[in-house]
Amino acid sequence: MLRPYLGVHCEPGNCGDSLVHFAFRVVFPACCFSTDWRHFSTRNRMAIQKVGVVGCGLMGSGIAQVCAQTGFPTVVREVSAEIVEKGLKNIEKNLARLVEKGTISEAQKGEIRGRLKGTTAVEDLKDCDLIVEAIIEQLPAKRELFSALDGLCPAATIFASNTSSLTITEIATATKRPQRFVGLHFFSPVPVMKLVEVVRTIATDPAVYEEMVAFGTKLGKTPVRAHDSTGFIVNRLLVPYLLDAIRALEEGVGSIEDIDQSMKLGCGHPMGPLTLLDFVGLDTTYYIANIMFDEFRERRFAAPPLLKRMVLAGWKGRKTGRGFYDYSDPQKPKAMKF
Ligand code: 3HC
Repeated sequence: MLRPYLGVHCEPGNCGDSLVHFAFRVVFPACCFSTDWRHFSTRNRMAIQKVGVVGCGLMGSGIAQVCAQTGFPTVVREVSAEIVEKGLKNIEKNLARLVEKGTISEAQKGEIRGRLKGTTAVEDLKDCDLIVEAIIEQLPAKRELFSALDGLCPAATIFASNTSSLTITEIATATKRPQRFVGLHFFSPVPVMKLVEVVRTIATDPAVYEEMVAFGTKLGKTPVRAHDSTGFIVNRLLVPYLLDAIRALEEGVGSIEDIDQSMKLGCGHPMGPLTLLDFVGLDTTYYIANIMFDEFRERRFAAPPLLKRMVLAGWKGRKTGRGFYDYSDPQKPKAMKF
């Protein structure tokens, strides 16, 4: 009787010979001579050992910090040495705070810092097993970056975008590895917020997806599973709420302070919506709202005129010192008068 084994048929009694034949005639040449041999060999040993992060702003530096704290050697790339320096300083400040609170020791702080390497060269990411992108929320920039990374990295490297609203599928198609592409959407401040949305597209390999869910858990986060639908779960619900808070202000329903107090004290939110908008960044929220409105064509995602005007005026929230509040004294923000 013929028994199938990996597509090779063997007779009882000489199965061993057939397997040896299969190994030497099929597997060995495939490993050695196929142009895709790195994919084969790396896939078998695949476990994330080294992480690359592109972008060292608010989100990127937080992601890099959490990866290094978990024990991963982490390379973080920015466009200029000054921005790399600023991001790493921010991480050092956060780590120093953890030492002050006794969460980590001075020696552990040194080890975590030692696992972090800042760079301006994309080439320095080429031996990372996973690259998480957290750059500006603009599709052409993300596609250009991933296309360059695709040419540099082995076929086994997993790519992830921290986009909050762009379509993962559209970013992934800038590469030849959409099956090894996911969304990993973290929340600000990344070292504190427990959630990560792990996003799969119709092309994502289920094994890669599960590996990324496990990676999220390893980082100490709680991963939730989401499809590649614009805004995923959190922003689908959060963005209309934030935009409605601006509309309530525009319509004179309440003052800035009263809208914020209402949601803090009435609903137990840690921050009121207008404070949260300043915290996330008004420009970021404006981008997200526009992308979501383009996708769903629903009024609840439309940016209110006041938001647009504040972004045009350069009042982008905490990072520019002015948004719904004036942060001249960061300890005592004062509500703006419009
Ligand atoms: N980085 C690192 N750690 C920080 C931090 C930062 N930027 N800000 C605060 N922390 C830490 C503090 O050290 C403190 O740690 P401890 O409990 O171990 O002492 C803890 O966070 C609490 O900080 P504070 O006591 O100073 O202040 P609060 O109690 O007000 O907490 C907050 C600050 C955690 C930011 C809280 O106000 C909060 O949860 N706000 C809501 C944040 C939120 O909604 N984030 C999601 C935004 S949406 C998003 O990111 C998605 C995007 O796509 C739009």
